[in-house]
Amino acid sequence: MSEPIRITRAATKKSKPKDAELSFGTVFTDHMFVVDFQEEKGWYDPRIEPYGPFSLDPACAVLHYAQAVFDGLKAFRGKDGRVRLFRPQKHLERLNNSARRLCIPPVEPELALRALVELVRLEMDWVPSTVGTALYIRPTIIASEPFLGVRPARSYIYYVILSPVGAYYPEGMNPVKILVADKYVRAVEGGVGGVKTGVNYASSLYAAEEAKHQGFTQVLWLDGRERKYLDEVGTMNIMLKIGDEVITPSLGHGTILPGVTRDSALTLMREWGLRVSEREVSIDEVARAARQGALKEVWGTGTAAVISPVGELAHRGERIVINQGKIGELTQKLYDAIVGIQYGTAPDTHGWTVGVE
Ligand code: COI
Repeated sequence: MSEPIRITRAATKKSKPKDAELSFGTVFTDHMFVVDFQEEKGWYDPRIEPYGPFSLDPACAVLHYAQAVFDGLKAFRGKDGRVRLFRPQKHLERLNNSARRLCIPPVEPELALRALVELVRLEMDWVPSTVGTALYIRPTIIASEPFLGVRPARSYIYYVILSPVGAYYPEGMNPVKILVADKYVRAVEGGVGGVKTGVNYASSLYAAEEAKHQGFTQVLWLDGRERKYLDEVGTMNIMLKIGDEVITPSLGHGTILPGVTRDSALTLMREWGLRVSEREVSIDEVARAARQGALKEVWGTGTAAVISPVGELAHRGERIVINQGKIGELTQKLYDAIVGIQYGTAPDTHGWTVGVE
């Protein structure tokens, strides 16, 4: 679809928060992108309009059966003042994979990328500039058909909203304490753990709240069959350094979200000549490595926090302290390398960024 995107500008503009006041996902910009879908018409009427509430029929499918997918990416203002999107094509590809799994019609990639660029260009003044801040971009598709039968809806809304953000975890780059979940699971083989749909996050809340009440920032999920193998940490992919091997759970079982930061970190570490394995890793292997002094570093990767060091894992009463609770060397190197590309202070040799002029 090379249809032009209609623009209706907001009559009034909101005041923008200072960079130092930014938290995560609380403030939204003046405009949003919207496009509708109906079975007979396909996607139609792409537009940028003032940010505001939708009018939804109380019977619409998303409100009952959670037929919805989303993604999350960021735009950064570099030291040179230029605004860059980080790997937008990869995020849109993942959005469409998520959509297919939820029986949602995929969006046209060319239009979707053009919409992101045009929306961010219009909201350029909202992109903060301090390192650690960004404009978070939330593409979302919801099933809008009012119908209570269980089948794929016949109408959808794809929309994109923008939010200037600071650190995702209040801890920032300080290592977090994580509780290994042994009562609840996040995903099972054949389920939807490998795609980005709201139900994965809704169903994670109970375990996360229990962990918080016990003084932990998040949970480390184990596999749904044996409660033995590492899955994800909180809302992020997990990586570990044991001896000289960097390990992250493989995507093969379809339970792990193919993180864009995960992919970026793996690419960089392989280029640095590190021994990197995508394989199953059990919590017993991690505990054993810790006892032998071989567990060097543990960190999470995700768009929201980029890299989040793990300082401690608690498992069945055992406390595993990692690198004396401090940020590891490789964790820091990865953070610096990714952030360097995002803010344009390091060369983008992979073509990961898309400039918004
Ligand atoms: C991420 O970007 O790491 C996430 O998945 C978190 C998001 C759901 C806020």
